[in-house]
Amino acid sequence: MWLDEKSFVVLVSGRGSNLQALIEATKLGFISGSLSLVISDTPGAYALKRAEKESIPTCLLDYQTFSGKKEYETSLLSVLEQVNPSLICLAGYMRMVGRTIVSRFRYRILNIHPSLLPSFPGLEAQRQAVEYGVKVSGCTVHLVDEGMDTGPIIGQAAVPVHDSDTVESLSERILEQEHRVYPEAVRLFLGNKLEIMGRMVKIKE
Ligand code: GAR
Repeated sequence: MWLDEKSFVVLVSGRGSNLQALIEATKLGFISGSLSLVISDTPGAYALKRAEKESIPTCLLDYQTFSGKKEYETSLLSVLEQVNPSLICLAGYMRMVGRTIVSRFRYRILNIHPSLLPSFPGLEAQRQAVEYGVKVSGCTVHLVDEGMDTGPIIGQAAVPVHDSDTVESLSERILEQEHRVYPEAVRLFLGNKLEIMGRMVKIKE
């Protein structure tokens, strides 16, 4: 590894298709940085298999084995501090990151969310969109703050919602955009191309 090469870690809970998109973008050199660790809170998450296939180190912090959120977060913080990555990416990580970690890694945590924030934060964003009857939805990459999907927005992509859509068909259409938008945001972040001014994130020329 080059001495000045930046590293990032990815937190996952499940399937890991966004992780895969980040892996591919890194292998292609689109993202310049190294993916140093994949951390999962869920044993058996397919994302862990994807990392293992690529010989990326993995760490399982099985949430159920901790006596509570505080203990879990203490362990997670200690792993993150040991690695001290330039960036932490949440990719289908289905937990809110606690305040201590958010403030320790302020503006160094990104999340991908399957809606056009600030619409439909929280769980099952695609179902919320279908049930609300919106005609356009999409995905958002944002910096993580203490709120639920409330941090400054880096990038978004919109997709149409068709009358015939199910939660599954809309999720698939959004996911395609997630796989494009997330690697782009990570590329910009690690390339020092983002300027954060309060809620605004500008892309430097
Ligand atoms: C993605 O759609 C991601 O945006 C969403 O979970 C899915 C994970 O898929 N994340 C959230 O809803 C976070 N609140 P993946 O495991 O295949 O990347």
